Amino acid sequence: MSALLRSALLAAARSAQLERAVTRLPVSRDVVSRFVAGTSTDQVVSTAETLLRSGRFISIDYLGEDTTDLTQAQATVEQYRVLIAALGRLPQAETTSGAVRPLEVSVKLSALGQALPRDGHAIAREHAHQICTAAEAAGLWVTVDAEDHTTTDSTLAIVRELREDFPWLGTVLQAYLRRTEEDCRALAGPQSRIRLCKGAYDEPESVAFRDRAEVDASYLRCLGVLAAGQGYPMIASHDPAIIAAAGAAVAAARRKCEEYEYQMLYGIRDDEQQRLTAEGNHVRVYIPYGDQWYGYFMRRLAERPANLAFFLRALAGG
Ligand code: FDA
Repeated sequence: MSALLRSALLAAARSAQLERAVTRLPVSRDVVSRFVAGTSTDQVVSTAETLLRSGRFISIDYLGEDTTDLTQAQATVEQYRVLIAALGRLPQAETTSGAVRPLEVSVKLSALGQALPRDGHAIAREHAHQICTAAEAAGLWVTVDAEDHTTTDSTLAIVRELREDFPWLGTVLQAYLRRTEEDCRALAGPQSRIRLCKGAYDEPESVAFRDRAEVDASYLRCLGVLAAGQGYPMIASHDPAIIAAAGAAVAAARRKCEEYEYQMLYGIRDDEQQRLTAEGNHVRVYIPYGDQWYGYFMRRLAERPANLAFFLRALAGG
C-alpha cells in the first residue's frame, strides 16, 4: 500500500465526520465482523471460549479511544468490570500467581480518560488501577495498549507506577518508534511483559521509522533485546519473516515455550495461529468488541491492501 494511501486512511481513522458516515453504511457491520467479535459481552465471551477450546489464549479489548468525557471513561471501566467478571467464571481463569494466564484484557489509556484536559494522566491511572484490581481478583492479566507517540511517556509512567501493585501488568512497545530499542532495554527486567508490535499510527519521521525495511530491522533489534532480557516477550505480528526470526531469537536465548508467546489479531491469519499452537507455542489472540469499532477497523484497512479491497468489494455488493 502506498505511504500516501496509508496516511490518508490513518487520518480518516481519527475523523469524527467520516466515522459518522462509515458507521452508517449498510454493509459496515458485516464487514467489520471479520475483525471485531460483536458488540456485547456475551458475544465476545463466546468467541473467546471457542478460541480457548482450540488451545489459544485470549486478550480482549473493549473498543474505544480518545475519550474526552469523564462519564464515558467511567462507563468504559464499568464495561471492563462486567467483562472481567464474565471471564473470571471461565475454567481457564488462572489464580496461581506467577503462572502464564490464558485470559487477559487489553486497555487503551485514552479510553480511560488520559486525554481529559485536567488531570487526564491521574484519572487514567486510577481507572487502570481499578481494572487491574478486578483482573487480579479474577485471575486475569492486563496489558496496556500503545497509542500515538504523544501518549508514550504518560503511558509508560502509568504502567511503571501500576506495576508496583501489579507486577504482572503488561505494556506494548511499537518498533517503528525510534525510542523503542532504548525502552526495551529499560523495560526488559524480571517479570516484565512486553508486547512488541510494529506500530499502527501515522507518526512523523522525527520520532518514527517510516520505511518498512527500517521498521522491520528495528523490530528485530528490539526482539533481540527482549529475548535476551529477563521478562516475558509477547511477539505481536502476522509477518512470516518476523515470526521466523522470533523463533530463532527465542531459541538462541534458550527460552522454553512458556517463557514467551506469539500474539495475533482476531480474524487475521487464523491458519498460522493454529499452526503455531499445534507446534506447542503459546498463541494469544487479541479480540476487540464493542460499538466503537471505527478507529480500530480503519487501522486494519490501512495495514494491508487486501483488507481495503475486501471492504470496497463489500461496498460494491460483490
Ligand atoms: P505487516 O502488516 O507489516 O504485514 C507483514 C506481512 O504479514 C504481510 O506482507 C503478509 O505477508 C503478512 N500478513 C499480514 N496480514 C496478513 C493477513 N491478513 N493474511 C495473510 N498474511 C498477512 N499497534 C499499536 O500501535 N498499538 C498496539 O497496542 C497494538 N497492539 C497489537 C496487538 C496485537 C496482538 C497485534 C498482533 C498487533 C497490535 N498492533 C498494535 C498492530 C501492529 O502495530 C501492526 O499494525 C499490525 O500487527 C500489522 O503489522 P504486522 O507485524 O502484523 O505485519
